[in-house]
Amino acid sequence: MSATTKTLPESEPALLEARNLVMEFGTASGGVLTQKKSVFRAVDDVSLSVRHGRTLAVVGESGSGKSTTARIIAKLLPATSGSIFVEGEDVTDVSKDALRRFRRQVQVVFQDPFSSLNPRHTVDRIITAPLDYQGITVPGGKRRLVKELMERVGLDPDHSGRYPSQFSGGQAQRIGIARALAVKPKLLICDEAVSALDVSVQAQVINLFKSLQAENGYSIVFIAHDLAVVRQIAHDVMVMNRGAVVEQGSRDDIFDRPQEQYTKTLLAAIPTINPEWEARRRMNEQRVGAAT
Ligand SMILES: Nc1ncnc2c1ncn2[C@@H]1O[C@H](COP(=O)(O)OP(=O)(O)OP(=O)(O)O)[C@@H](O)[C@H]1O
Ligand SMILES: [Mg+2]
Repeated sequence: MSATTKTLPESEPALLEARNLVMEFGTASGGVLTQKKSVFRAVDDVSLSVRHGRTLAVVGESGSGKSTTARIIAKLLPATSGSIFVEGEDVTDVSKDALRRFRRQVQVVFQDPFSSLNPRHTVDRIITAPLDYQGITVPGGKRRLVKELMERVGLDPDHSGRYPSQFSGGQAQRIGIARALAVKPKLLICDEAVSALDVSVQAQVINLFKSLQAENGYSIVFIAHDLAVVRQIAHDVMVMNRGAVVEQGSRDDIFDRPQEQYTKTLLAAIPTINPEWEARRRMNEQRVGAAT
C-alpha cells in the first residue's frame, strides 16, 4: 500500500520515508497469579513517504496509531521493526551524532503547547534551547534570531522575556513553532498541533504553516483527526485504522474519490460547515450509491 512511494522517480528520494513500521506494546492483564502477557500492535506494517515541500496528513480515529507512527518517524520511540530513511540515508539505528543531525532536520510541534513548553523558562530561552543542544552559533546573535522568529510566527518580540503562562493557547503554540523553526529543519512533524485551539485561531496557525512552507519549502507531517482541517493543509493524505494504512493518495484522491469504505465513513462524519463541501459530499454519496 505504498502508492505514493511507487510514483516517486528513482532519482528523487523522498525527504523522509518509512518502510514496514511495526510497533508492539506488551500488555499485562489479570492478577498477580493469573497474569497474562500479550502483545498489542499499535502500528502494523506502515510505510509512508514525505516529499520535499509537501504536507502529508495522517488521519484516522482515536487510537488508530497516528501519534505512535509520528513518534517513531520523529525518532522519539524506537519501532519494534521497520526502517526510516532521510533523503535516502538509513537513519533507523544511528549513533548519537547522527541522531543529533537528524534532530536538526526533523522537528516536532506537539498538541498541547503548555505541557511542551517549560513553564520556568522564558520564551527566548525556550526558542534557543534547540540551538544550544545542536551547538549552533547564530551569525548576528541569538537575540536577533529570537526577534526574527517571534515576528515571523506573529508574536511581539518585546515579549521574549515572558513565561509561557503569560500567553494564550494560540500564542503558546506559536512559541512551539518558533522553537521548531530555530534550527531551520527540513521537516516539521505536527501531532494535533492545532487541535487544542479555537477554530479561528486554528485557521491562523494553519495559514502560518502554509506560508512558512511556501517561503522555505518545509515538508510537514500533519496529524489530525479533524478532516476539515486536513483538507485545508494537506497535499497527500494517509488514512489509518487499527494501526494499519487503509489507503493513501493525493488530497483530492482521498476526499473526492475515496476507495475504501472506512475512508468514506470517516469523510461522512465531517461536520459540514462549508456549503460547497456539503454539496460535493452529497454528490459523492449519490455516486457511491449509484455505483453499489
Ligand atoms: N506506551 C504505550 N503502551 C501501550 N499502549 C500504547 C502506548 N502508546 C500508545 N498505545 C496504544 O496504541 C494505540 C494507538 O495509540 P496512538 O496514540 O498512536 O493513537 P492516535 O491515533 O494518535 O489516537 P488519538 O487520535 O487519540 O491521539 C492505542 O490503542 C494506544 O492505547
Ligand atoms: Mg494521537
